[in-house]
Amino acid sequence: PGTTEAPAAELPVGNTGQTISKEVTILYGSQTGNAQGLAENAGKILEGRGFQVTVSSMSDFKPNNLKKVQNLLIVVSTHGEGNPPDNALSFYEFLHSRRAPKLDDLRFSVLSLGDSSYEFFCQTGKEFDQRLEELGGTRLYPRVDCDLDYDEPAAEWLEGVFGGLNEARGESAAPALATVPQAGKPAYSRTNPFKAEVLENINLNGRGSNKETRHLELSLEGSGLTFEPGDSLGIYPENDPALVDMLLEELKWDPEENVTVNKQGDVRPLREALISHFEITVLTKPLLEQAAQLSNNEDLRELLSPGNEEKVKAYLEGRDLLDLVRDFGPWDVSAQEFISILRKIPARLYSIASSLSANPDEVHLTIGAVRYDAHGRERKGVCSILCAERLQPGDTLPVYIQHNPNFKLPKNPDTPIIMVGPGTGVAPFRSFMQEREETGAKGKSWLFFGDQHFVTDFLYQTEWQKWLKDGVLTKMDVAFSRDTDEKVYVQHRMLEHSKELFEWLQEGATVYICGDEKNMAHDVHNTLIEIIEKEGGMSREKAEDYLADMQQQKRYQRDVY
Ligand code: 2AM
Repeated sequence: PGTTEAPAAELPVGNTGQTISKEVTILYGSQTGNAQGLAENAGKILEGRGFQVTVSSMSDFKPNNLKKVQNLLIVVSTHGEGNPPDNALSFYEFLHSRRAPKLDDLRFSVLSLGDSSYEFFCQTGKEFDQRLEELGGTRLYPRVDCDLDYDEPAAEWLEGVFGGLNEARGESAAPALATVPQAGKPAYSRTNPFKAEVLENINLNGRGSNKETRHLELSLEGSGLTFEPGDSLGIYPENDPALVDMLLEELKWDPEENVTVNKQGDVRPLREALISHFEITVLTKPLLEQAAQLSNNEDLRELLSPGNEEKVKAYLEGRDLLDLVRDFGPWDVSAQEFISILRKIPARLYSIASSLSANPDEVHLTIGAVRYDAHGRERKGVCSILCAERLQPGDTLPVYIQHNPNFKLPKNPDTPIIMVGPGTGVAPFRSFMQEREETGAKGKSWLFFGDQHFVTDFLYQTEWQKWLKDGVLTKMDVAFSRDTDEKVYVQHRMLEHSKELFEWLQEGATVYICGDEKNMAHDVHNTLIEIIEKEGGMSREKAEDYLADMQQQKRYQRDVY
């Protein structure tokens, strides 16, 4: 028998003699750092309220300890087609496996992050929530699903969780929680962005290229903002004024009419509000549903009737607010009513392409201009086209730093690194090389870069060649997919060098992948497994375990989008 003494962290509930732990475990699964930031903030707040809190990445949590946890908070985001973040995968799989323990004593609550323009909105959070219940857990507060603008719902969730934790201890909930101000934290943040001046804005692609990639240099002088290689910059963009004008024309609204743009009651002229405050280029199902309340349009109601999920999905694909307004009028509502159904314009994240030690007080970005035709009209990426077509040196952009602990140079400067970054995916590796050059790191480094054409698309070509010459970069292999009859991609170059690549892995190299998720990152992942299988003489399964182990040891890191 164990000790009869009540552990210090337990309090009696009422006078029943039953004790409930004041210990709270917060686990996060985070790709870009938002879930992690929320988890850490929640931890600080609950600690300030007398709880003993452990905050941990799901990947660092020993699943065997789950049975000992009494109060569990999960903060997790969802990516792509309903996928868990990389650092949630192993825990997710454990929980959904036969090895998952019964959790009858567990009390839990889930905060899920997502984007309602995706079909599988907050899927990962929903799955954790359901699974914990199946395993016997009890919700101490219902799950909250957050859209892009997550601050308010997240704060409400935490308030509810706090109430739930207290209720079970037989105490009444304390008054609403405010965010704990942290000493020494920079004043500029996601909710209070810094206006960074544009120092330089050039096109990296040569004449005749199919692509336009902007190299942007911004000043952080006076901001107090700092970052490390691998971090991202958030930019709050403005919508294309031409698109806003088409909308205003279509709706016959007065551009100067004053409208309220947020819950705090800030007022702006309508045109400015549509340019700076609201999302007008993406449609979501919740938006269609709210629009149907405003227009009474038969076709829209028909589209939203049960059984039409696939049609709705097809409609949303590639359409924007102007399409919605044109397709489903008339709109006999005030501008104020209409804009109140719109989402706040979300920030765009870009992997930072410079290092602070090499470029103090500056941040550099590599941004691919997005232009395509859809549904009979030219469509433009909001932020990338702002940068490509309208942003001049001397202008400012509202920015913040999004730290990314999951994409970091090895702590040991001698550790070899392998960087796979075709297209704009090369951005963080420029930052890595700048940093390693500046700090005199001795570890070997190997870059795999790819793009369409050598002559026009070799981003930062002269910089790589200089690093190669100076020995900062040890090896470079490039794949220009449209210079030859048959396409060659970065993973083909990796396969050509599979023996040496596997040797690097055996020597402890860290592998980084940055860029397109859907095709590239997926194919490169499979190629890595193939290389390990072939050169390590392993079965497919063993090779997968090898890569999973690397991931667990943070020797396989991805920044994909
Ligand atoms: P493509 O456009 O000729 O198909 C950067 O965009 C580079 O990534 C381009 O050369 C592009 O080739 C290539 N690319 C496209 N799909 C890819 C994939 N699945 N794996 C690796 N590279 C890919």
